Amino acid sequence: MALQINELSKNLLCSQAHIWNHIFSFIKSMSLKCAIQLEIPDIIDRHGSPMLLSELVEALAIKHERTQSVYRVMRILAGQEPRLNRFFNEAMASDARLVMSVVLEQCGGVFHGLDSIVDVGGGTGTVAKAIAKAFPDISCISFDLPHVVNGLVGSKNLTYVGGDMFEALPNANAVLLKWILHDWSDEECKKILKNCKEAIPCKEDGGKLVIIDMVRKVDEGDNELIETNQLFFDILMMTCLTGKERSEKEWAELFLDGGFSDYKITPILGCEISH
Ligand SMILES: C[S@@+](CC[C@H](N)C(=O)[O-])C[C@H]1O[C@@H](n2cnc3c(N)ncnc32)[C@H](O)[C@@H]1O
Repeated sequence: MALQINELSKNLLCSQAHIWNHIFSFIKSMSLKCAIQLEIPDIIDRHGSPMLLSELVEALAIKHERTQSVYRVMRILAGQEPRLNRFFNEAMASDARLVMSVVLEQCGGVFHGLDSIVDVGGGTGTVAKAIAKAFPDISCISFDLPHVVNGLVGSKNLTYVGGDMFEALPNANAVLLKWILHDWSDEECKKILKNCKEAIPCKEDGGKLVIIDMVRKVDEGDNELIETNQLFFDILMMTCLTGKERSEKEWAELFLDGGFSDYKITPILGCEISH
């Protein structure tokens, strides 16, 4: 009986917290408004890389006695981000381990004869590490945003480079884009493809762009696979990002608009590799 009452109080307190949460939800948008009025996004943008809160407070044009309020407002707007960054990178790395073991087994030939490859949006380097291990003669670069690669240590044939794929990419024989283009709109993809083309030699001189991504097909294959790959992922891209899952026709148009004249698609395990 006592246990039931305890459980009831716990549920009531949770419900109360839930209602308070709704009542106070305006505080998040008020904090965001306050951050914008203080020009915090512009200050971080001008800084060009992640800032410590103490550096941000110093850069703000506010009286010393108000600085504590900034720490309190920023507790609402920042704090969980490094944890989310870690969770996201670990989830991607775990998926990449499985996919790369299949890719190297079934499509390893794509990498034969390359001197160097840059894995764009390579996260914490799981894909580049797998290629570097399987092909010790290929120099691999794992390229991602500075806050993702900062502090990561490479190996004999693997280096980490921080940067923005919309600006420029390190030069290499080949560029790899694994699960990148489906995140972005056609216009954004064209910018990425243009930078890929600039980073590699022409096809006749061995330049290659390898894309590991999905190709949307209608009514073909296992229902659960279609539902997951073609429908769920597509909605995820639409709601969380600017991208979409593309049909072969849409991919072909994108490649052409991005400056590439031909392509080859190799289907594997519900994912697709094209180069
Ligand atoms: C969906 S994850 C794919 C990670 C990895 N390629 C994989 O398949 O496991 C997208 C990656 O793109 C990176 N990214 C996003 N915007 C970027 C940019 N402007 N320049 C470089 N990398 C970027 C993210 O940090 C993230 O690691």
